Amino acid sequence: MDFWENKRVWIIGASSGIGEGLVRCLIKKNAWVVVSARRKDRLEQLRNESPSAQLTLLPMDVEDHGSIGEKTKDAWSHFGGLDVVFLNAGIAVRDRSIETSLDLEKKLFDINFWGLVAVAKALLSLKSPDSLLHLAVTSSLSGKYGVPKLAAYAASKHALHGYFDSLRAETSSNLRIHLVIPGFVRTDIAVTGWKGDGTANGKMQNAL
Ligand SMILES: NC(=O)c1ccc[n+]([C@@H]2O[C@H](COP(=O)([O-])OP(=O)(O)OC[C@H]3O[C@@H](n4cnc5c(N)ncnc54)[C@H](OP(=O)(O)O)[C@@H]3O)[C@@H](O)[C@H]2O)c1
Repeated sequence: MDFWENKRVWIIGASSGIGEGLVRCLIKKNAWVVVSARRKDRLEQLRNESPSAQLTLLPMDVEDHGSIGEKTKDAWSHFGGLDVVFLNAGIAVRDRSIETSLDLEKKLFDINFWGLVAVAKALLSLKSPDSLLHLAVTSSLSGKYGVPKLAAYAASKHALHGYFDSLRAETSSNLRIHLVIPGFVRTDIAVTGWKGDGTANGKMQNAL
């Protein structure tokens, strides 16, 4: 039997790019999928393509840390628990460090790092010690190396490694933590990301 058959999966950052591709793939593999992101219209498009019972919408903003406990309970209860959670939401700031405000860099951390950590903490409070849960955290090659004009983004991805490698070391083997390290994937992340002054970057890139 395929690993994904009947698995209960939550994908955060499901409305475009890598997450959207993952939804389509897992629906074909007969997983039960809760999809989250801010853009409800994009999530609704995915639902229109899928058998209705198999896919559930849960719009959320991971920057809104106060709402994450309730959203996580909703995701957990919908299919009576979760087997795999993709912590895939992320945004990029593309500019020289000197041109980028500290406030914008903190905002990026609130999404890319603290938002995903808050979800992981909420999941741990719901998970029983003997149930198995996989957490797939989307890092990046820039979580391993420094990259010009991506200092805050690279730092947020490095921070995910530090946090989730440590969490793996302190928890039981029933919590399986996977750090996913993609290279360049042609998605909207550059277009929807910001320049250092907080305005939309608006340009497709040919490499991260
Ligand atoms: N593309 C690459 O080359 C590449 C390489 C390495 C790693 N990655 C990582 O892969 C992940 C997916 O990125 P992508 O390339 O597929 O870009 P994308 O198409 O822009 O996808 C980003 C996803 O994150 C969601 N998101 C952003 N801010 C959010 C928030 N505050 N709350 C909830 N969801 C939020 C977006 O949905 P909404 O805007 O609807 O909220 C979208 O679904 C990111 O973590 C990115 O850092 C990408």
